[in-house]
Amino acid sequence: MADPISLTHAPQSATPAPRPALAGWLAQTNEVTRLFLGASQIPGLINLAGGLPDASVWPVEELAEIAGRVVREDPALTLAYSPIEGLAVLRDAIAARFSTGGLLLTRDNILITTGGMHALELIGKVLVDPGQTIAAQSPAYLGALDAWRPRMPRYRPLHLARDPDLVAGMAGAQFAYTVPNFSNPTGRLVPLEQRRALVEAAHATGTWLVEDDPYGTLYYDGTRLPRLIELAAGEGAYDGPVIYLGTVSKELAPGLRLGWVIAAPEMVQALVLAKQGSDMSTSGLCQMILLRALQAGLLERVLPGILSLYSSRRDALLAAMDEHLSDLFTWTPPEGGMFVWARARDPRMDTDRLLRLALDHGTCVSPSSVFDPEGLDHGAIRVNFTLNPPEKLAEGVRRLAEAARATLAEGIAA
Ligand SMILES: Cc1ncc(COP(=O)(O)O)c(C=O)c1O
Repeated sequence: MADPISLTHAPQSATPAPRPALAGWLAQTNEVTRLFLGASQIPGLINLAGGLPDASVWPVEELAEIAGRVVREDPALTLAYSPIEGLAVLRDAIAARFSTGGLLLTRDNILITTGGMHALELIGKVLVDPGQTIAAQSPAYLGALDAWRPRMPRYRPLHLARDPDLVAGMAGAQFAYTVPNFSNPTGRLVPLEQRRALVEAAHATGTWLVEDDPYGTLYYDGTRLPRLIELAAGEGAYDGPVIYLGTVSKELAPGLRLGWVIAAPEMVQALVLAKQGSDMSTSGLCQMILLRALQAGLLERVLPGILSLYSSRRDALLAAMDEHLSDLFTWTPPEGGMFVWARARDPRMDTDRLLRLALDHGTCVSPSSVFDPEGLDHGAIRVNFTLNPPEKLAEGVRRLAEAARATLAEGIAA
């Protein structure tokens, strides 16, 4: 009779061999994004750290109705894999939406992505080999730094307000990165003459210019400035150096994970190759939801409510900061977006330490070190005003001021 099959595993050696080391870039990440995306799980914490929308602005019923309808009507578009570059109908709709008298777009200029973060990652994949240079508006969006970390770039800071020579700043870089509308983290609006200078420098140097624009509709004061891509338009279908990134996250809902790139066809084709080895295709369901939402004018209908809610929250945050923080920090009130950037008056304030103490006091903010590619700026904080109602903003700022005084006392004692 044959031996019964043995169910015991092969004998293990007493000390298993060590596993391979993880990739080197993992040692350089930060925990701030994980902290603010998980902060809702911490009871009582007032989260001033993230760039998160308020759930009350989401058009839940309309989106639910559209979602049900598109699955029933268009299973072939919603439930199948999509083409890598996105559904042709949605690319056409985005091209039409962003075309102006001077900017002529066709579907060849459009790539649909799985959120704006995905577009940033793809740009890093197609443009950056280890050691190459990114010229980044300083301070820079931490998500972009996260997306590009595995590419191991060098950074050259672009201080748009004080760099007289953007050509020198951009020459030799693989691309320049900017958030011209209400930058993350500073909330700063890049004025028209600096927009023109950026585009001229991109033409003069041949450097790609990435215009990351999640906050482009969130103007609370003043009128919209031209996009860089509009300033870069030439004759005929768009073929310029600006790579424009859009997303539904701040205007509709971040859970849809939908974004788009508008760029020269040559760049779109390169990004398609990178996307093939990334997510292969963006959710057809989410693409069809966005298409029907655009066709129904849903974004235009929800925008006034978003602007009035967020501008009143900005004012509430600024009033609370005036009351509790003005002896400790300075800031410029933002004209849009989601953030106030505040710099400590006393150089002994360490905002990494402040984050720790703020958590003990029941609130959190984002420290400046995570927006600095070198991690060396410890003197500022990014404070969000969109997620919390006025009374919570006031309480969060009061707690933050207590934590800041304790941080400074430690700094002085050291
Ligand atoms: C400047 C900037 N770029 C890109 C993103 C990514 O947005 P999403 O991936 O949600 O589209 C954000 C999100 O906060 C952002 O602030």
